[in-house]
Amino acid sequence: MPKYFMPTTLLSGENCIKRHPRHIVHGKKCMIVTGRNSAKISGALADVTAVLDGHGVKYDIYDEVTDKTNIADIYALGKKMHDGGIEYVVGIGGGTTLDAAKAAAVYATNDMAPMDIYKEKYEKLPLRVVCVPTTAGTGSDTTQYVMLTIDDFENKRSFSSEVCFPYATFLDSRYTLTLPVDVTRSTAMDALCHCVESYLNTNASPFSDIVALEGIRLVGQCAGALIKGEFSKSHREKLLTAASVGGMAVAHTGLNVVHKMGHQLTCDKNIQHGFANGMLLTEFIAWCSKADIMRAVDVIRAIGMDLSTLKKFMDKVLPQTNGITEDDVKVWVKNSIYDDSEPNSPRKLTREDEFEIYTNALLNKNRDYTKW
Ligand SMILES: [Fe+2]
Repeated sequence: MPKYFMPTTLLSGENCIKRHPRHIVHGKKCMIVTGRNSAKISGALADVTAVLDGHGVKYDIYDEVTDKTNIADIYALGKKMHDGGIEYVVGIGGGTTLDAAKAAAVYATNDMAPMDIYKEKYEKLPLRVVCVPTTAGTGSDTTQYVMLTIDDFENKRSFSSEVCFPYATFLDSRYTLTLPVDVTRSTAMDALCHCVESYLNTNASPFSDIVALEGIRLVGQCAGALIKGEFSKSHREKLLTAASVGGMAVAHTGLNVVHKMGHQLTCDKNIQHGFANGMLLTEFIAWCSKADIMRAVDVIRAIGMDLSTLKKFMDKVLPQTNGITEDDVKVWVKNSIYDDSEPNSPRKLTREDEFEIYTNALLNKNRDYTKW
């Protein structure tokens, strides 16, 4: 029987932090890890500190996480937490911030060199981590994965350990109300890709399928809002739920071809992670359908659009791909040889497949998806 492990307690709904205080109080002293702005602007930081103050929990705030925060910064934070007697961590923010909190929690309890975190075996359990996401995409709040920037050139590398699942996650969509439209669209694309890549996956099981299909449905129900760039409270709730559900799905199955290939678009063309993945998604579904038409149809039914309509939807919510050439594609396909992550796709991915997927998705603007 397949295994499904998801130890994170999920609390959701308006004011869930205030309604469930015991899930955010895990000791007498905690470290709050945030980025520069979103935790304050969204109101999440004020809600967290109000509960901590009310329960006599002392806290320090590290509010310096940015895209440039690297492993050395997080290692130093972990050591500071150790020396300061910090008993648990609250991460408030997007995926980069939550991952920083998860990694610092490992360093705080383990005497090891920074890169030893990639050995994925730790002598002592990390500090408990509570997550409060302020974006709706990465799913870091429900996974064992942690992505860190490892050098000054912003190269990223991930690790995975079951001890790195957050202890609890609070999903309050009020914290995403101030997200700009482009961030909302990009993170929604990321969440959708997590769910689809989990469903069209050789590691999929009935347990992961349930959450993956529900995540796809939730994003599909927000398609009109994503096109218009106008989001009701209900849309925000659905997108936040879809993001956490997507994390639960890929925590079980791992990611797939879209993320593997989208990574090159982000590295080479600086295209946002979610947008880069979204650009490849329609073609990925068409490519997978050759191996498993029934599951591809399941995806299409869940999102509520046939492939042709999905492509038109993507064209409306994704940025233009002008400036990408066949020479770019050749370089990406060549570079992918050195990527040792093995996607769990229903078909074996060849270099010819990669070339075709990139070309069809990014260069063949008039591709007909009515005959896939
Ligand atoms: Fe992602």
